[in-house]
Amino acid sequence: MTGIRGVAGQVALVTGGASGIGECCARLLAGRGATVVVADVNFARAEQVAQSIGGHATRLDITDDRRIAHEIANVEKQIGPLEIGVLSAGVAQVPTRTEDYQMSDWDRIIDIDLRGAYLSAAAIGNSMCRRGRGSIVMIGSTAGLRSVPLHAYGPAKAAVIAMTANLAAEWGRSGVRVNCVSPGYTLTPMLQGMIERGERDPSIMEGDSALGRLVEADDVARAVGFLISDEASAITGVNIPVEAGWLSATSWHTYGGLPPAR
Ligand SMILES: NC(=O)c1ccc[n+]([C@@H]2O[C@H](COP(=O)([O-])OP(=O)(O)OC[C@H]3O[C@@H](n4cnc5c(N)ncnc54)[C@H](O)[C@@H]3O)[C@@H](O)[C@H]2O)c1
Repeated sequence: MTGIRGVAGQVALVTGGASGIGECCARLLAGRGATVVVADVNFARAEQVAQSIGGHATRLDITDDRRIAHEIANVEKQIGPLEIGVLSAGVAQVPTRTEDYQMSDWDRIIDIDLRGAYLSAAAIGNSMCRRGRGSIVMIGSTAGLRSVPLHAYGPAKAAVIAMTANLAAEWGRSGVRVNCVSPGYTLTPMLQGMIERGERDPSIMEGDSALGRLVEADDVARAVGFLISDEASAITGVNIPVEAGWLSATSWHTYGGLPPAR
């Protein structure tokens, strides 16, 4: 897939690039000829991924507002001006009822999944705007589109989807596109951990989707790759769910469930 217009030769920074969806996006972009910077709070793992794709690694904590603009400036000075940003860094939440939910956990999730998403988008996007060129993809979630028992994570991801349109409007005249991909249940170390701890049941997640399967990180990365590329040159401010039809299928429970395969 090398040589896709608008990606080959460009510098791409992927937050959360050390694992799961971010790692898969980093591999896809490197495979298409981009120079990839794997940016993660887990620097050891970021270095391993960067080495395996011939890219660069940087330690980046997306919640650190005192350092983030400096870190992005450093990357641009050492590697080159960023033209691609994929913002995949994030953490999941344990489903909890309001009477049991600790505000310390609410603060942690909002800090990373909402405030951190904004901070990293602003640092990367403002730099792109000064050069008049760039494409950013935020990673939302279907949890931001439907009611779920995740009182911090759901609102944080809904805000990421809203933020995508806000930033797209603000930066459009400066040549910067901003879009969002909202994964459904995606088999990554994050989801695998939740399954192992009994917080999610794979058979329920599969059964609730139209396609009868979980999402693979590669399914998400391909949608990100499309939005980043010039194939999507007139697309900005949108959210594309990549969720194996979970959003379409769940309400069929009320009518007795999905029909079996014909
Ligand atoms: N896996 C799913 O089912 C699923 C579904 C919907 C949305 N998402 C979203 O996709 C994104 C990636 O999730 P994943 O499943 O690949 O998870 P993952 O745990 O495999 O990867 C997340 C990465 O983010 C990094 N990270 C966490 N906090 C950070 C911080 N403060 N600064 C920098 N990096 C940080 C972690 O070190 C890790 O490498 C997240 O935003 C998540 O909310 C995942």
